[in-house]
Amino acid sequence: MHFQKKPDWHIGEAEATPEEIFLNRRQILMAMGIGAAGSLSGGLLLPSLSRAAQEDPSASLYPVPRNEAYELDRELTPEEVNLRYNNFYEFGSHKEIHKAAQALKTRPWEVRIDGAVEEEKTVAIDDLLKAMPLEERLYRHRCVEAWSMTIPWSGFAMKALLDYSQPTSKAKYVRFETFHDKEMASGQSQFWYPWPYVEGMTMEEAANDLAFMVTGAYGKPLAKQFGAPLRLALPWKYGFKSIKSIRRITFTAERPVSFWEQLAPTEYGFWANVNPDVPHPRWSQATERVLHTGDRVPTLIYNGYGEQVAGLYDEIGKSEKIFY
Ligand code: MTE
Repeated sequence: MHFQKKPDWHIGEAEATPEEIFLNRRQILMAMGIGAAGSLSGGLLLPSLSRAAQEDPSASLYPVPRNEAYELDRELTPEEVNLRYNNFYEFGSHKEIHKAAQALKTRPWEVRIDGAVEEEKTVAIDDLLKAMPLEERLYRHRCVEAWSMTIPWSGFAMKALLDYSQPTSKAKYVRFETFHDKEMASGQSQFWYPWPYVEGMTMEEAANDLAFMVTGAYGKPLAKQFGAPLRLALPWKYGFKSIKSIRRITFTAERPVSFWEQLAPTEYGFWANVNPDVPHPRWSQATERVLHTGDRVPTLIYNGYGEQVAGLYDEIGKSEKIFY
């Protein structure tokens, strides 16, 4: 995602993901003994990055049982790599936000559920966690910037959230909103962005088995840079749809306009389904760079999840551009 400041926010992928940052990170990892052959967490996690997850009041809930229906055909990205290469614009418009993101206060944390529901409510994250059936799933993640990773998310099916929220028949979409606090998150002082970060999906998408509410990763509560304490994972869509640090969930008849859609509707549209045949207006989506190996591999339609989700788009595909 590439917006530096108005009016010249359009910069290319190479600039958004500088190769030297990537190479430096690889060199550091190699020096730490974590490369392509690195283990999942290997006990090498730097204390400053792991402490937050250990102190989290939900720590005793993890690890959660793995749902074997969500296996991967490629190796997991080492935790150390994912912890240091993130998009979280609230804490800076570059990949190395992991230190700045430690300013995120994750307790108390309440989630407001409102709009077209039987009864609007506000729930404390720890009460929500107790009410939801937690499981682990291994998912791919494909960023619109053409890099990818794989990750063991913990959390609960969005279907469980729908049951909990009891939307009415007026609900056609779900809108998600992140916190808005520029004292805590310095990136939110960048007034040219339309804060807070917002994302949305249709009710049919939300009810799909793959749609996942994430509360942990690598067998622990979510690290702050991953979007603690609650984020989305929609692995068949480009990563920007997977909103972090969710504070509000609204069921609505109106299609939500997302953060990136407000900035550049022709580049980051509502659907954002991964498709190697539809280039981003400024770069190809045919291949992706695997984060921890640096290898370039072909991108798969719906990021490899076509069997589960292609049917969602049979009807609208005829009338709408469902990629971007
Ligand atoms: N959510 C919020 N609130 N703010 C963000 O900047 N970035 C998005 C998405 N969710 C973003 C966000 C983008 S562009 C991507 S690719 C993923 O988070 C990155 O998730 P990761 O850092 O866990 O890999």
